[in-house]
Amino acid sequence: MKVLIVEDDLATRKGLEESVRDLGGEARSVGTVKEAARAVEEFDPRLLIVDIHLPDGDGIEILRAARETDPDREGIVITGQGSIDNAIEALRAGAVDYLLKPLRPAQLEVVFNRIADRRRLESEVETLRAELQETGRLGDLVGRSPVMTQIFDVIRRVAKSNAPVLITGASGSGKEVAARTIHRLSRRAAKPFVAFNCGAISPTLIESELFGHERGSFTGADKRRVGYFEEAAGGTLFLDEITEMGSELQVKLLRVLEDRTLRRVGGSQELKVDVRLISATNRDPHDAIKHKKLREDLYYRLNVFPLALPTLAERREDISLLAEYFRKMIEEQERAGVAGWDPKALEMLLAYDWPGNVRELRNIVHRAYVMTEGKTIRPDVMHALLPKAARAAAAKKPPLKQKAAAGAARKK
Ligand SMILES: Nc1ncnc2c1ncn2[C@@H]1O[C@H](COP(=O)(O)OP(=O)(O)OP(=O)(O)O)[C@@H](O)[C@H]1O
Ligand SMILES: [Mg+2]
Repeated sequence: MKVLIVEDDLATRKGLEESVRDLGGEARSVGTVKEAARAVEEFDPRLLIVDIHLPDGDGIEILRAARETDPDREGIVITGQGSIDNAIEALRAGAVDYLLKPLRPAQLEVVFNRIADRRRLESEVETLRAELQETGRLGDLVGRSPVMTQIFDVIRRVAKSNAPVLITGASGSGKEVAARTIHRLSRRAAKPFVAFNCGAISPTLIESELFGHERGSFTGADKRRVGYFEEAAGGTLFLDEITEMGSELQVKLLRVLEDRTLRRVGGSQELKVDVRLISATNRDPHDAIKHKKLREDLYYRLNVFPLALPTLAERREDISLLAEYFRKMIEEQERAGVAGWDPKALEMLLAYDWPGNVRELRNIVHRAYVMTEGKTIRPDVMHALLPKAARAAAAKKPPLKQKAAAGAARKK
């Protein structure tokens, strides 16, 4: 990273140059506003470290001007005497930090890492966006239908914030895949993603699993245990089947979200919580509230960003894209040389209603792959795999191409 240091005190300047180089940056330094203006143009720094009081003017102005020509430039303002006014002005000019001299190398490192993180995220988002246009994929989420395209937009926006997300959708519709994608696109991507299914564990144990416990806090607690909240520190915690959590525990969860601190079971210490929470349910949340499975106050706290995933039947346009995506994925693992589809076999997939959604489609494609001899997945294989009702529906429906042609004819 190119770093321009603007500082009139020679000793400070050399010290900063050295710290920047130690961190792997490329440093250049000047001592006046006038020299800085030229250096910004020639050197094109990504980060500026500017002193406020310079012999011929004000360092904050340099930063403002440098960011005007390129808003991606970052700045750190350093000063001998701190004042609130200066700090505010520095932040207004777009500084990422305002630090007092003497600057410790560790402080610089923190800022460096933050900027590197942000750049990594930007390029990751850029790669994923390009991928999306090309292949109809965002991370591991596949879809090109209008509903999915809209969901991709929401996911990209949501990923930038730290707000809680509540994902709703039928079983197998991709809630967990969506949660992972949000994490992967967020600033927290380098930190852990921890998934916890509230329905898979006895209600009495959920509290200690989530929040941890101290040794001896209950019978059987012979060791201290760190909970999932602590494991996910700095990252994302995915709480699946949130309505399976008991009402008392929902109150505790709400408190943790509001106070941003937690206490282990049997513990007295308040621990800071830095976790992005994504929760999910395959029930209708309003229905769950009515049946006292979900507390209304918790619902509002979790549902800052709602994300409702459609069933596969609501986005039939994606079926063949997904089927082909899974075939390729399986081919990469199994290498049996199954290279494609007989169009009639694909049509059978399109005629089915997929009550198990994408998960069911993936399983059926996998089984079809395994049963296929030769290079293409054929209708007789599909016939054996799809439930009876689907086969009947497929037989009744006219082939898709004809249907499209009939639609076009009607429009004329
Ligand atoms: N949009 C999608 N693109 C690609 N694969 C998907 C998509 N949606 C779901 N899948 C696949 O379907 C499987 C099931 O998805 P996931 O586990 O996210 O469902 P879920 O909504 O969490 O289901 P449940 O409510 O049963 O927990 C995943 O393993 C993934 O392979
Ligand atoms: Mg799930």
